Amino acid sequence: MIEACIFDLDGVIVDTAKYHFIAWKALAEELGFEFTNADNERLKGVSRMSSLEILLEIGGLQFSEAEKLAMAEKKNTLYVTYIEEMTPEEILPGVPQFLQELRNTGIKIALGSASKNSSMILDRIQLSGVFDAVVDGNSITEAKPNPEVFLKSAEWLGVLPENCVVFEDAIAGVEAARNAGMRCVGIGDPETLEMADFVIPGFDGFTVRKLKGALGESTIENQIGT
Ligand code: BG6
Ligand code: MG
Repeated sequence: MIEACIFDLDGVIVDTAKYHFIAWKALAEELGFEFTNADNERLKGVSRMSSLEILLEIGGLQFSEAEKLAMAEKKNTLYVTYIEEMTPEEILPGVPQFLQELRNTGIKIALGSASKNSSMILDRIQLSGVFDAVVDGNSITEAKPNPEVFLKSAEWLGVLPENCVVFEDAIAGVEAARNAGMRCVGIGDPETLEMADFVIPGFDGFTVRKLKGALGESTIENQIGT
């Protein structure tokens, strides 16, 4: 039974990867190496400090903990200048309609994000207050693929993990959902997200009926084939 849906933020509700890319690329350039779009793919779903570790590995550079903290802070300062300018128009197609349908159907909704900037983003896109629970990088200690973010979301909603469905665009996020014992809908490329129960390109035209049908949950509509 589906009692709750848990949404990742970056890449599921909004496309912030392009802003993360600009900010990480600027840091890499300052450090004297190139950071490509393909490199950026490796950072999806990964926490800020783990992203920095990957970036420095690409550049073949090593720094002290204090230096790394300062770099992450600098990257974030630039990133924030972009997300501060976000508007509700940047919500990905079909998301508002699907969230509304879940609410109408009585299915709880939570945000389960690695980002420490989630409240600013939700505020800018005017989705603050829409979620029954918001668990983000400020409320967890373990990064995806650790299931902490999703288990905490389920706990805060008062729903058992097996009754939650996670929506994720990153491999680390799909693994985190699996590790939490939850079902998972991938957003993006079916080959990349092969560990998901099924994958959709986005929420445009996606409905609760399609969700239940794809997960093999019977509804009256599915039974009579409407
Ligand atoms: C994830 C993004 O949602 O949040 C990652 O996919 C990002 O790319 C991570 O590094 C942490 O985000 P923030 O906003 O706390 O730097
Ligand atoms: Mg994501």
